[in-house]
Amino acid sequence: MADWTEGYISDINYTYGYYPYLNPNSVIIPFLTAGLEVPKFDTACELGFGQGISINAHAAASDMTWYGTDFNPAHASFAQELADVSGSNIHVYDQSFAEFCSRSDLPDFDFIGLHGIWSWISDDNRHIITDFLRRKLRVGGVLYISYNTLPGWSAAAPIRHMLNQHDHILGSRGQNMHKRVQASMDFTQNLLNICQPLVQQSPFIPQKIEQMQTLNPNYLAHEYFNSEWQPMYFSELNDWLSPTKATFACSPNVLEDFALSNFTEEQQALLANIDDPMFAQTVKDYMHNTQFRQDFWVKGARNISTAKLEKTWQNLRFLMISNRENITLEASGRLGNITLRQDIYEPILDILSDYQIHRVADIWQSLADNFEQPLLFEALAFLQAKGNIVLVQEQAIVDKVRVHCQKFNDYILQQSLVEQNIKSLASPLTGGAFSFSQFDLIFLYAYQQGKKSTKQLVNMAWQTLTQQGKHLVKEGKDLQTEEENLAELKQMATEFTKNILPIAKRLQIITD
Ligand SMILES: C[S@@+](CC[C@H](N)C(=O)[O-])C[C@H]1O[C@@H](n2cnc3c(N)ncnc32)[C@H](O)[C@@H]1O
Repeated sequence: MADWTEGYISDINYTYGYYPYLNPNSVIIPFLTAGLEVPKFDTACELGFGQGISINAHAAASDMTWYGTDFNPAHASFAQELADVSGSNIHVYDQSFAEFCSRSDLPDFDFIGLHGIWSWISDDNRHIITDFLRRKLRVGGVLYISYNTLPGWSAAAPIRHMLNQHDHILGSRGQNMHKRVQASMDFTQNLLNICQPLVQQSPFIPQKIEQMQTLNPNYLAHEYFNSEWQPMYFSELNDWLSPTKATFACSPNVLEDFALSNFTEEQQALLANIDDPMFAQTVKDYMHNTQFRQDFWVKGARNISTAKLEKTWQNLRFLMISNRENITLEASGRLGNITLRQDIYEPILDILSDYQIHRVADIWQSLADNFEQPLLFEALAFLQAKGNIVLVQEQAIVDKVRVHCQKFNDYILQQSLVEQNIKSLASPLTGGAFSFSQFDLIFLYAYQQGKKSTKQLVNMAWQTLTQQGKHLVKEGKDLQTEEENLAELKQMATEFTKNILPIAKRLQIITD
């Protein structure tokens, strides 16, 4: 029988992560900030969706039609279960990229996303995907792609190689994958203890493998134990993508492109002298020793006119979700934190702190006459990237998707009582999902059941823990007694009610 796995790890399923940049709505602000026209998104596709949390959250919370594939049937089956539960507009398949990309019944796509795929597949599959992008990404459409990057990976590459080699030579196919991962990790860690020249050249290697020992073995298996692994320089990815006619657009995180918090004066001066924007990206990766890139590419980048840029911004709607008192006037970057200007940010935050949805045109009207419009746009972009405010979809879409989000969220909240792997709930406001801690999910479930007092929240969490025969661990110490556990849960429930529940309500993930 032919092996469908193509050397890809299949005897252990992937983690249940959510990736916000796979949401086409996350294109809007970075594109406007980069001065680019924003396409309208009706059809979207995710290649290699894993457990399908992102694709399902996006299908439930948006009015786009979603297509996707993952050749692991256990992944595709779970993704289909979520799709059935949510009743959203989504088509998921368990086909390989070769099979899916050659289907004749697919529409053209306004958005194609692949997260955690490109570096872990063969050149043949990379060719299949670039051919698909060339044919099926609509003109003006956006590609989201993430990948392991050089030069950042060059120093740690020996770890990956040894893990993979050890498993290939000594790992038994009949052995449980978790045991194989552990055996290769232990071997490599012990080996590095006696590899002085290598460690001298890359002194961080022992810490890296020590830190890896704390990670989810399912993640480690998919990240390090596949037969294929190819980190790339930005310029190499650019070569791969050039036949697709897509060009680099921008980072999905506007804070990453902000010069003051990311580049020293010397670095800024050097970058200012580079005319070729693609070469500038490779140079930036050298400056930051980038290990992992997440980028938007676009098929036919068009600069937006100033008039249209202003009009598009004016029509957008924002909502503050963080409690005002928790918002700091700081933005983080590679060089550390920078302080944001109080005279710009405070008046905007004052307007948004009623936690109502505001159209930018109205915010603009409420600001002082001499407030410069580009500074308002930049501040909103930064506050959004910091996670303090969210971009809200048009009301007709919010109303349409509410029921799908509710079904998706009910399923996940119910699951949180028995399993702790899915952490994300969909918001009808944003078209995306937000991640919560295990206990916040249990508290949200309790709250939704009408158990709203701190005592009731604590009881529900304690009941869940005892049913699973578990107890809490605080700062590395097991909390053994019931009193200790209840006291800790009370603190968690108080924090939840003050800081987390309001966010879930503002996002309309949960209602009163
Ligand atoms: C590292 S996981 C990433 C999953 C998901 N994108 C995420 O980030 O959570 C890679 C996924 O790609 C799928 N995959 C790998 N090669 C594939 C192929 N040739 N055709 C279809 N799916 C593939 C695997 O089954 C796996 O779920």
